[in-house]
Amino acid sequence: MKALVTGAAGMIGTALIKNLLDNSIEVIGVDNFFRGKSSNIDLLKSHASETGSNFEFYECDLSKNIDDTLFPIPDAVVHLADVVAGIKYVFNNEFELLNQNLLIDANVTSYINKKKIPRYIYVGTACSFPKHLQNGINSKLFEESKFPAAPESTYGWSKLMGEILTEQLGKNKNTETCSIILHNVYGFYCDFDLSRSQVIPSLIKKAKNLKKGEILDVWGSGEQSRSFIDARDVADFLTSALLSSKPLKIFDKAQIGDPYATSIKRVSEIIIKYFDEKKLILRFNKNEPSGDLGRIPDLTKARSLGFIQKIKIEDGIKDLINWALQANEI
Ligand SMILES: NC(=O)c1ccc[n+]([C@@H]2O[C@H](COP(=O)([O-])OP(=O)(O)OC[C@H]3O[C@@H](n4cnc5c(N)ncnc54)[C@H](O)[C@@H]3O)[C@@H](O)[C@H]2O)c1
Repeated sequence: MKALVTGAAGMIGTALIKNLLDNSIEVIGVDNFFRGKSSNIDLLKSHASETGSNFEFYECDLSKNIDDTLFPIPDAVVHLADVVAGIKYVFNNEFELLNQNLLIDANVTSYINKKKIPRYIYVGTACSFPKHLQNGINSKLFEESKFPAAPESTYGWSKLMGEILTEQLGKNKNTETCSIILHNVYGFYCDFDLSRSQVIPSLIKKAKNLKKGEILDVWGSGEQSRSFIDARDVADFLTSALLSSKPLKIFDKAQIGDPYATSIKRVSEIIIKYFDEKKLILRFNKNEPSGDLGRIPDLTKARSLGFIQKIKIEDGIKDLINWALQANEI
């Protein structure tokens, strides 16, 4: 199988492509380095030569018309390229983000439709569920309650439109499709740039740069919670869907995440514990955005398809800090 992975230089893209190369899948990667890193592509190229698998990379802005002669025609597409970022970036760039993601998703589905590519996997987000259903650690999100739609941000709206495009593409009989819905993903190869980073990398970087006894500023009350999932667990599930001999539609709308929500206070405590010798002090800053109060996934479908969360948040955060220190990312 030859798989095209968009967003190849990003966090989930890099984790997924490593897995696919381990499974001897030929991979075509595409990214425009909006947020992904060339160091991730270098890593994937060396992983390909170590595993003896084939990896080709093409720099391409998917918000523009796709030149379909640029790369070989794949048998399957996993579409991960979209603008995704930390909460402040999302709320400060609502128009650009919506506009960009609609363009990217429409171009990718137009390309697949034109080339009659047999398999297409899109990734949706828990942020597309109505804001009023995201009220705390026990707020389980069920697919049936996604409509009437009322996402909190244009990011959530853009990804919801991506799901709808995916559903409609799947009706044309040339392409099997599914949307896999992700909760909050963190892990190796992520963005640590504080202007766009998501909560875990952002707190790790801030904590690393503080001196002994200084204050770690945490956005919101700290009581807001999320279902965090390591990108390696996400990559495993996406790989199993891509390689499955079953119809892709059985994976449609499977939610992936931790069954338990972890508060941002707890995440901060795990991080400062790692830097224990610095004796950092937590301060919760309610003047900064914090997003929905909390949510957890309905894992019924994912579990029936073999999903297991192998990496607990405490271990995943520790692994991420070790990796970031060793890779000089923070
Ligand atoms: N990280 C999360 O918590 C999370 C949760 C739910 C869903 N998702 C979805 O998963 C996917 C991957 O997210 P990620 O966390 O790996 O983020 P990421 O930012 O690391 O990866 C996205 C990649 O897309 C690329 N990209 C952006 N615009 C592009 C364009 N115009 N042309 C080509 N490439 C472009 C970026 O450079 C980046 O490498 C996204 O679709 C995101 O919406 C992520």
